Amino acid sequence: VPVSRIRNFSIIAHIDHGKSTLADRLLQDTGTVSNREMKEQFLDNMELERERGITIKLQAARMNYTALDGQEYVLNLIDTPGHVDFSYEVSRSLLACEGALLVVDASQGVEAQTLANVYLALESNLEIIPVLNKIDLPGAEPERVRAEIEEIIGLDCSGAILTSAKQGIGIQEILESVVLLVPPPRDTIDEPLRALIFDSYYDSYRGVIVYFRVMDGSVKRGDKVRLMASGKEYVIDELGILSPTQIEVDELHAGEVGYFAASIKAVGDARVGDTITLVSKPAAKPLDGYAEAKPMVFCGLFPTDADQYPELREALDKLRLNDAALQYEPETSSAMGFGFRCGFLGLLHMEIVQERLEREYDLDLITTAPSVVYRVTDNHGTQSYIDNPSTLPDPNHRQKIEEPYVKLEMITPEEYVGTLMELCQNRRGEFKDMKYLTKGRTTVIYEMPLAEVVTDFFDRMKSNTRGYASMEYQPIGYRENNLVKLDLMINGDPVDALAMIVHRDKAYNVGRAMTEKLKELIPRHQFKVPIQAAIGSKIIASENIPALRKDVLAKCYGGDISRKKKLLQKQAKGKKRMKSVGTVDVPQEAFMAVLKLN
Ligand code: GTP
Repeated sequence: VPVSRIRNFSIIAHIDHGKSTLADRLLQDTGTVSNREMKEQFLDNMELERERGITIKLQAARMNYTALDGQEYVLNLIDTPGHVDFSYEVSRSLLACEGALLVVDASQGVEAQTLANVYLALESNLEIIPVLNKIDLPGAEPERVRAEIEEIIGLDCSGAILTSAKQGIGIQEILESVVLLVPPPRDTIDEPLRALIFDSYYDSYRGVIVYFRVMDGSVKRGDKVRLMASGKEYVIDELGILSPTQIEVDELHAGEVGYFAASIKAVGDARVGDTITLVSKPAAKPLDGYAEAKPMVFCGLFPTDADQYPELREALDKLRLNDAALQYEPETSSAMGFGFRCGFLGLLHMEIVQERLEREYDLDLITTAPSVVYRVTDNHGTQSYIDNPSTLPDPNHRQKIEEPYVKLEMITPEEYVGTLMELCQNRRGEFKDMKYLTKGRTTVIYEMPLAEVVTDFFDRMKSNTRGYASMEYQPIGYRENNLVKLDLMINGDPVDALAMIVHRDKAYNVGRAMTEKLKELIPRHQFKVPIQAAIGSKIIASENIPALRKDVLAKCYGGDISRKKKLLQKQAKGKKRMKSVGTVDVPQEAFMAVLKLN
């Protein structure tokens, strides 16, 4: 098809507003996949996922659609990951499009995450088509939500499409709007090749599969290409479109979306955002905006059983093939032994990696509490970055410590504004702005240390607002604060894996709360276990875990055998995730205690 009949678009939606359901509908109604295939394919992918330990998601789909004007169009739907941790990936996916459907649940309204992605789309000059979904629900209020979108985003919603993805209402209207409103790609087929990588995954047989959009020129199978950021060169040995299954083609030109394989060994060699060009006729400069993923959150990962260290290394090496943003290096902890210090894009990314390591690689891990990256200036004025609190230089050797800040944007029903502000205030947040959006809904903006956000802020926000508030944040640089290192000692020994960096004003409270929490979490031993918190050599809080006097079973009345069994089972279960620190068994939860403080 000519470029004038190609449309590239994505779907922007808050979690649960119906993005996947709508995408499935579009694929079905254009005959791209049949109902049966839909199910089969889904199952296939699940199996693959299990077998090879990779996640195959629908990343892009090419649909053929005969519009009401009688012409046949090619519609490429490009998926975007819907989470703040991956906002760079989102911005690259959007760059591959000329338009976006903004899907908002008509019974809910605009959420913070929707806003963030809409702003990204507006920055890339995309045509945005508002879609009000779930109009079949009795609670749907399309008029209210329409007004809300107009007021918050300033987008004309008079033509918003009313849909029910579930019941198949409004689907054709969407397809027609994409054809009529989304501009076709620019026709730059005669220019030197520039193609944008918007996603990739590792396949153990074919190497990395790269998903890309041709921005200028064209590319053929057998072409020798160069990745402009990495400088690496490869010969394309497989080229195709995503329909959504991979179908090989010989050539793709400006405006088209597809995939290639070129025996690339790891996704880190073909990063999202990089520009592909031809070695024989290279482009003068790459596409704008390439950036390397920068980890924001770090934690220690240690095998419960020291023998599993080589397996942990192997698992991380394997995961890294498929996850360019994952960073790790060996860490030796005096308390925990050998492990790795790992860096992640954010908390969700961290949870995904931890879960995959345990589920897919069958490892038992102890993870330490998440930390941010501090910037420390020493007495000679030299700056360094510290991602592990235990390595913070002592006060005599440093001039200042700075910590990363974020701008936090929350959208909440009015009645929770008070509790939300209190929560932010307790987290060292600085109030910036508050706006009434529409009847009963408010946006609240704070600037806050990232460290306060990564310690379960999201969960607190959700529980304080009964799940109604949503949030979004972005980094705004470093600020100096009066920060100190808080050490925790178990049985007289400092446990490096428990060290943390806190604001001096909060240090006493945190120290007291931590010792109390550890006392609660660490089981009793045959001997008394003192627990102390200290700043430098000064002890600021202490507790004792009394020695165990008798056998636990002695606590059971008489000879109730089932009760004994239950107790033993309970102990066995508790034992699973223990790490011996000196002579004291410390459970996994203790290393996360900071997330459970009141
Ligand atoms: P994530 O994949 O978590 O980002 O969510 P999503 O935005 O893709 O939403 P998804 O399509 O999974 O839909 C979320 C829930 O809403 C599912 O239970 C759907 O069945 C339901 N849903 C989607 N569209 C409609 C609709 O038009 N009407 C109703 N009543 N329910 C819908």
